[in-house]
Amino acid sequence: MTEKAELRLGDKTVELPIVVGTEGERALDISKLRGETGYITLDPGYANTGSCSSAITFIDGEKGILRYRGIPIEDLAGKSTFLEIAHLLIEGELPKKEEFHSFRESIRRHTMIHEDMKAFYGALPKDAHPMAACSAAVGALSTFYPDSLDPRDDRHIEISIHRMIAKLPTLAAFAYKHSIGQPFMYPRNSLSYPGSFLHMMFSNPCEDYEVDPVIEKAIDLLLILHADHEQNCSTSTVRLVGSSMVNLFATVSAGINALWGPLHGGANQAVIEMLAQIRDEGLTGRDFVERAKSKDDTSRLMGFGHRVYKNFDPRAKIIKKACFEVLNKMGVHSKLLEIAVELEEIALKDDYFIERNLYPNVDFYSGVIYNAIGTPSNMFTALFAMGRLPGWIAHWAELHRDETFKIGRPRQVYIGNTVRPYTPLEKR
Ligand code: CMC
Repeated sequence: MTEKAELRLGDKTVELPIVVGTEGERALDISKLRGETGYITLDPGYANTGSCSSAITFIDGEKGILRYRGIPIEDLAGKSTFLEIAHLLIEGELPKKEEFHSFRESIRRHTMIHEDMKAFYGALPKDAHPMAACSAAVGALSTFYPDSLDPRDDRHIEISIHRMIAKLPTLAAFAYKHSIGQPFMYPRNSLSYPGSFLHMMFSNPCEDYEVDPVIEKAIDLLLILHADHEQNCSTSTVRLVGSSMVNLFATVSAGINALWGPLHGGANQAVIEMLAQIRDEGLTGRDFVERAKSKDDTSRLMGFGHRVYKNFDPRAKIIKKACFEVLNKMGVHSKLLEIAVELEEIALKDDYFIERNLYPNVDFYSGVIYNAIGTPSNMFTALFAMGRLPGWIAHWAELHRDETFKIGRPRQVYIGNTVRPYTPLEKR
């Protein structure tokens, strides 16, 4: 029998079913509340609202736990590859050998983009932010692939997913090449997924380029760590936009825009800019932490704090370790890394951060790695988007398979003017 909670509203008592998740988390099902009582619930920022039931990713923010389809991130990060994770998230299981082979081959077959899309990049200013270029280019994919736009057709779903995963690195790298005025480099299908991306970013037609395995592995790890994070801002955007039954390309384009903001994925670019500012202005870590605490200053300690994690972000721990390893293997000494470590040490001992449970998040150290391997800071969030893509797709697919599917449509409490007459222009 379903457990129920009772809610008293004046002299009326309503029963609300309690939904229990597989990890024991509990939710009040209020879906019939308005029909029965006329009341809605109000929860700005959705801090306390479950928008769906999902079987993809589990987070325990108090304990610092993250699992994709039940498998701890610590195990996946060390042992698997990004394409395997994409399969795990989207299909629900790690692929068997043959499944993986055919998935990888299909992704490889779709890495090129239509030649006409080169002209599309040519129309953008050189300093166009790669996130703007990527969201526009991904949206434009729908115009090139009218044969895969139906979110309820299995064949359309499969091919649009494979196209999306295969082409995003190409679109992102083309945005970068356009910004520096270099020729576009085509994907190299003999290379791994991150290897081909590095080739498109850093090779040019005049010189030989060999993918550095240390960098290739680091990018793969970062993609894995970003691959999903349940109902964050961009994933919720993807679910909401997707619920209108629009195609996958338009949906992912919206997700990319949501991710761009500095409070979400854009924080990785903001972190490196903050570290560079501290270095260039000769500030101390303590100066900056005081600034981030001050109510008179709008600066925040970027890369710190999280809506869900009130403990260490497990991804940040893995990235910090990888950061030292990668820089060490590359023989790079990074002043920015030194500053990041100093800031972290100061903040973790500071009462302001302790009382508010503010810990380093996924974005705090990732930029230092991207920076050390020569990625310009405005490309960091595009890399986050490449990583998050399988998560967005998995949620989009789950939404469309959900028996309780409905268009997303929140309500509001209206606080504007009550009814009043129209005053003609000449009388105003
Ligand atoms: N530096 C200084 N103070 C902070 C910070 C920070 N990074 N983060 C939160 N606070 C303070 C905030 O001022 C507030 O203080 P008070 O209670 O005195 O008003 C309190 O902590 C709670 O903050 P909030 O903004 O209400 O918390 P939230 O859960 O709505 O926001 C957050 C979460 C991630 C937007 C926020 O911590 C933040 O802005 N962090 C910096 C940006 C960042 O690193 N974003 C990446 C998040 S992880 C990856 C991703 O999602 O893409």
